[in-house]
This record gives sequence, C-alpha cells and structure tokens, in this order.
Amino acid sequence: MRRFYQKTPLSLAEAREKLTPRITGEDPTLAHIASVDGRPIGYVQSYLIMDTPSYAQEIGVRDGIGMDYFIGEPALIGRGLGRAMLATYLREILFPSFPGENRCIVCYELANLASRRVLEAVGFLFDREVMEGGVPSGLMILGRPA
Ligand SMILES: CC(C)(COP(=O)(O)OP(=O)(O)OC[C@H]1O[C@@H](n2cnc3c(N)ncnc32)[C@H](O)[C@@H]1OP(=O)(O)O)[C@@H](O)C(=O)NCCC(=O)NCCS
Repeated sequence: MRRFYQKTPLSLAEAREKLTPRITGEDPTLAHIASVDGRPIGYVQSYLIMDTPSYAQEIGVRDGIGMDYFIGEPALIGRGLGRAMLATYLREILFPSFPGENRCIVCYELANLASRRVLEAVGFLFDREVMEGGVPSGLMILGRPA
C-alpha cells in the first residue's frame, strides 16, 4: 500500500490530527472504514474536487467528486475486496452524498495497475494522462449511474 498511498508514514498523533476533523465534520471530506465480519480492512474517502483548488487546477477539472482508497491488510490485497468495497461505496455513499455532482474523478499513478484495474472493474473509463504531484498519472471518470 505504501508505494501508492500515504507514502510518508504518519504517527498515531498525526493520524488523529488529520482524521479527527473528518469524523467531527469540520473537514467536509467523507471518511469511511470498510470491514469484513467486523474486522476493518480498508479505507475510502471522498470530497468535492473544487474544495482543493490546487488539485483541481493540477489535473485540469472544475467539477466532480474525488475518491481515495486502499485495502490496509497486505494479505487481503488482490482477492476481490477492492472491487467489492468501491462498488458498494460508489452506490451507497459517494453518489448519494454529493447530489449536485454528476461524476467521480480519480487519478492513479500509471504504474499502479491494481488501481487502474479496480477502477475499470467498477465502471470507470480512462480519460487522459495528467501529472499529479510530478508523477505521470491516469485520470479516470465514472458518471453518475442513471
Ligand atoms: C488498489 C486496491 C484498492 C485494489 O484492491 P484489490 O482488492 O487489490 O483489487 P481486487 O482484488 O478487487 O481486483 C480488482 C481488479 O484488479 C486486478 N488486479 C488486482 N491487483 C492487480 C495487480 N497487482 N496488477 C494487475 N491487476 C490487478 C484484478 O485482477 C481485478 O481485475 P478483474 O476485475 O479484471 O478480475 C489495492 O490493491 C490497494 O489497496 N492498493 C494500495 C493502495 C492504492 O493503490 N490505492 C489507490 C491509489 S489511486
């Protein structure tokens, strides 16, 4: 996971400082834990891309919902859980939570084949290559389901 998400490890105190406002609602980013039989295995967050204007400008979009995700247990990667987690999240949380937006936009590092595949598996289409944080990335788009 470290290769493609939160590349610099956070201490527990730093994680608290970053994530607590997402739980209290001070930070409008929606943050959810995915669990299997009550055991936490993954994380997904979503937000309005325009809430981070520097990111919006960098990837050249002016609308849409951003989404970030990971499966946090190395032994559980590549077993279909990412696909199940994202399909459920998009349907039950992301699109219903942002009724004014019509698409979800995700940038993945071009080297991150698992992310590209899981996005395609839940319906995203490749739009174009962009540079994000100096890294060649792919911009994937999923329209709001009818
Ligand atoms: C990206 C991630 C969430 C995918 O979840 P996952 O549970 O590993 O993926 P799944 O097992 O559901 O597989 C989904 C698809 O990706 C494919 N896939 C999975 N790992 C792959 C890999 N390393 N290389 C190529 N394809 C891969 C699967 O074959 C499957 O394709 P299919 O639907 O055509 O059969 C997970 O790998 C992860 O947490 N990675 C680290 C964090 C990260 O990269 N986050 C995203 C940043 S943009």
